Amino acid sequence: MSKQVFGPGANTFARVSLLAVALIAAIVIAIFFFSVRSPYTRVGAVTGVAIEQPVRFSHALHSGVINIDCRYCHLTAEYTAYGGIPDTHTCMSCHSQIATYSELLEPIRTSYANGTPVVWNKVHDIAEHVYFNHSIHVNKGVGCETCHGRVDQMPLVWRNNTMTMNWCLDCHQRPYQYLRPVEEVYTFGWQPEGDQNQLGMQLMAEYGIQVDGLSDCAVCHR
Ligand code: HEC
Ligand code: HEC
Ligand code: HEC
Ligand code: HEC
Ligand code: HEC
Repeated sequence: MSKQVFGPGANTFARVSLLAVALIAAIVIAIFFFSVRSPYTRVGAVTGVAIEQPVRFSHALHSGVINIDCRYCHLTAEYTAYGGIPDTHTCMSCHSQIATYSELLEPIRTSYANGTPVVWNKVHDIAEHVYFNHSIHVNKGVGCETCHGRVDQMPLVWRNNTMTMNWCLDCHQRPYQYLRPVEEVYTFGWQPEGDQNQLGMQLMAEYGIQVDGLSDCAVCHR
């Protein structure tokens, strides 16, 4: 005599709960993919919005008009992982003589006098779990412009690219679309003379760039 362990409704209940589990899994997966792909799920990843700063430092003026080389203030990008933000001394190398009465420069003079650094707002801020390195890109022919856009025309800096994982991978899978000669890394408005893809392939061979393995998770998540 078999005793009924499950009631007559149990089969339907099991089916419904299986369905619910599948549905929840689908939603979780969808959220995961959306969060990796969408530039809008992280506030910092919104592009094209100028970030306010404690001092209205204009790259359009300093880089575009006065034509100061990026390396005057961001030399570390060529040698280290970081772009680096200049300290007040770098500003005062000129502004102890130039525009000395400018109200806009008051926070710089105060910082210089007190030794308290100016706290700039970050424009780019990729997650802690991602490893990024400037020098490896800059020395293999990826221009500042390729990732940051026309900084030389920005009154205040904004994000030109999402800098999400898909954006990194697009180039890691086909770098030839973007490479330029190393001498042109700091040239803004650079255009290839012939076909970009052909030039890119040539440069990949010249600089020994290997696409194999460049998209492995461990490259960026160490
Ligand atoms: C005279 C100094 C100076 C020069 C020259 C200069 N910068 Fe900057 N840069 C700064 C300062 C100060 C900041 C921080 C304030 C800001 O974000 O505008 C900054 C910020 C940046 C940022 C955003 C950093 C972040 O928060 O993520 C980028 C990108 C950048 N600079 C790229 C460049 C490039 C490319 C050039 C050359 C065209 C250049 N800079 C030339 C001083 C300079
Ligand atoms: C190589 C020289 C040089 C350096 C370094 C430099 N500047 Fe300038 N800056 C200038 C010149 C030239 C002007 C234009 C002055 C004028 O219009 O009278 C200027 C103008 C400015 C102005 C506008 C002033 C006004 O009242 O219109 C601000 C703000 C400013 N700079 C901030 C900075 C900051 C912040 C730094 C450091 C991150 C910096 N500058 C580094 C040369 C420099
Ligand atoms: C391959 C893309 C790429 C190239 C090329 C590149 N950058 Fe960046 N840059 C980034 C990313 C990504 C960040 C954000 C890093 C972070 O948040 O940890 C960044 C951040 C910065 C910062 C903020 C400080 C920091 O390191 O977080 C400065 C300044 C900067 N870049 C300047 C430059 C200059 C100048 C050049 C050219 C010499 C350049 N970058 C070339 C992608 C790039
Ligand atoms: C426009 C092209 C481009 C973009 C965008 C780009 N990279 Fe790269 N990346 C390269 C090239 C080219 C190399 C050099 C590969 C080589 O030397 O074989 C490289 C190398 C690297 C390396 C070193 C690989 C190694 O084997 O040591 C890391 C880490 C890296 N990239 C991280 C990133 C991250 C994180 C991003 C996005 C925030 C990014 N890259 C965006 C082109 C790019
Ligand atoms: C070329 C660099 C690069 C490679 C290769 C890479 N990632 Fe990422 N990954 C990133 C960046 C950049 C982000 C986003 C960071 C941010 O938005 O601030 C990210 C984010 C993530 C996140 C978090 C999602 C989120 O929204 O922040 C996960 C999970 C992840 N990656 C897994 C992987 C896996 C699995 C692989 C291998 C198949 C991989 N990544 C390969 C650069 C990379």
